[in-house]
Amino acid sequence: MKYEQKNPVPVPQSGPFSDVESTMQTVFDWEYALKQQNLLALYEKGKRNNWNATELDWGADVDIERIMRERAANMAGNDMMAKVLAPPRDLTDAESVELQLNMNAFMLSQFLHGEQGALLATSKIVQTVPWEEAKFYAASQVMDEARHVEVYHRYLTEKLGISYEVHPSLQVLLDDIIRDSRWDVTFLGMQIMVEGLALAAFGLLKMMMPDEPLIQDITSRIMADESRHVAFGVITLEDIYTKQMGASELREREDFVIEATYMLRERLLMHQVFERLDWDADVWVPWATNTPFMKGFRQMTFSKIVPNLKRLGLLTPRVRAEFEKLDLLRFENLKDSVEEPEATPPQELVALLMQMLAKDAEAQTAA
Ligand SMILES: [Fe+2]
Ligand SMILES: [Fe+2]
Repeated sequence: MKYEQKNPVPVPQSGPFSDVESTMQTVFDWEYALKQQNLLALYEKGKRNNWNATELDWGADVDIERIMRERAANMAGNDMMAKVLAPPRDLTDAESVELQLNMNAFMLSQFLHGEQGALLATSKIVQTVPWEEAKFYAASQVMDEARHVEVYHRYLTEKLGISYEVHPSLQVLLDDIIRDSRWDVTFLGMQIMVEGLALAAFGLLKMMMPDEPLIQDITSRIMADESRHVAFGVITLEDIYTKQMGASELREREDFVIEATYMLRERLLMHQVFERLDWDADVWVPWATNTPFMKGFRQMTFSKIVPNLKRLGLLTPRVRAEFEKLDLLRFENLKDSVEEPEATPPQELVALLMQMLAKDAEAQTAA
């Protein structure tokens, strides 16, 4: 593995390293019972489907600016897109390209930071999960995550040239996941919430970048890995939450889900992008919050989390009430990661996104 960091990722204000104090119980499993066949099958699949970053075509010329310029030209005079994006002021073509380049880099940067979180959280799971077969699988996931960090980092620094530091909300959530002493909460935070969101977001990214073959290849490979990781979480937690855990402990998990949901939403608000562009955050942050496309995008990123929470018995009245406010219950009847371990096909996402946009446009016309 060798690549040139032409454009290093900016470090957060707090400095290049940060540490989290965590208390955890490291568990040895002397029984080696290896009872859970579904976890062992996942472990075999993980080993079989290993890949190396060197298989990607790093020599490819990645020119996102050209792609964005072509898109801006195609979109010029397109009423539908203007309505969907509805910027708070007219943008020149150059500004529109700049905005899209930065939004794309911001999103990929948060993917990178989330991958580092997954690497650390899953290495913690190797130690804390009580069953040997789950330790096996977690170990194979740790390898996947190192590769994901490597690939996104290389893409951002060598190919894209623009990147962002970790979003404060994402950092807080990752810290919480690492800090928590309850091993199931590490799973709930990482495999169900963060990776569930990533799986859906990767699907959206693929859909939005059909004209960039390298990111298509990267994303397809990572999505195949992530779908196993999310399934790992669901398989491991299902019986514990639906059959074994008592009401007061479950209530704490509900609280965690609600908090994590708000933090994950915030991480998509991109105030860092407008600061970097030196555009008025008071104008642009509300735009990024409310414009139909961005709203639709944020909601879509929960399309895998919601059905998985339902399977885990965590779509309780309290969680439902919060999700209702955020209009996330629309996903509750989609397939969960056991019924459909692979990511939802992009066509379905497109259809759903289009429906949302149509509904929003209707509501706006009516208002
Ligand atoms: Fe990953
Ligand atoms: Fe993962």
